[in-house]
Amino acid sequence: MERKKIAVLIGSARKESFSRKVARTLMSVAPDSLEMVIVEVDQIPFYNQDLEDAGATPPAWLVLREQVRACDGLLFVTPEYNRGLPAMLKNAVDVGSRPPGKSVWSGKPAAVVSISPGPLGGFGANHSLRQSLVSLNVPCMQQPEAYLGNVAGMFDAGGNMTADSTREFLTKFAASFARWVERQTA
Ligand SMILES: Cc1cc2nc3c(=O)[nH]c(=O)nc-3n(C[C@H](O)[C@H](O)[C@H](O)COP(=O)(O)O)c2cc1C
Repeated sequence: MERKKIAVLIGSARKESFSRKVARTLMSVAPDSLEMVIVEVDQIPFYNQDLEDAGATPPAWLVLREQVRACDGLLFVTPEYNRGLPAMLKNAVDVGSRPPGKSVWSGKPAAVVSISPGPLGGFGANHSLRQSLVSLNVPCMQQPEAYLGNVAGMFDAGGNMTADSTREFLTKFAASFARWVERQTA
């Protein structure tokens, strides 16, 4: 079976980011049919149409678009900021959606995982992102949903996941996602 390349987009640039640790856990338990690569979104200038209109498109925008274009699917792992999506990740979504008619997101199968040290698991961020994905024509896996709460206690000092039940859940989640990608790209 041909491996599917998945862009992993993380909504935090923090050194000890739980989102990144969860993303790394997902990458380690994902089936072999998925080749997961992290696409960094923390150095992308804010979208401003004037730059594009003036022929001064920032190189980082072009790099992001190229990296996403080269992938078959998308895995978003994000914290929640003030019940919404962190600006950094929303900016990447916006940059990839332009110029009009040339969105790099359209048609790529996706899944969303939200995390929080609190109990609610980033539900607001998860669904705020899903709202944008609808308008971007991104077929997003509906089930299983992934809202990971209380993540602070789930890792050892080396960033390895020690919460067995969550690792098991992420393993099943990744397997479902692989099937979703397979179906959508068949
Ligand atoms: C500006 C800001 C707003 C936040 N708002 C929320 C929130 O609405 N809900 C929540 O569960 N956590 C919120 N948090 C806490 C984050 O979930 C927490 O800092 C988390 O560790 C960030 O993700 P990371 O570990 O991947 O960097 C907020 C943090 C910041 C910095």
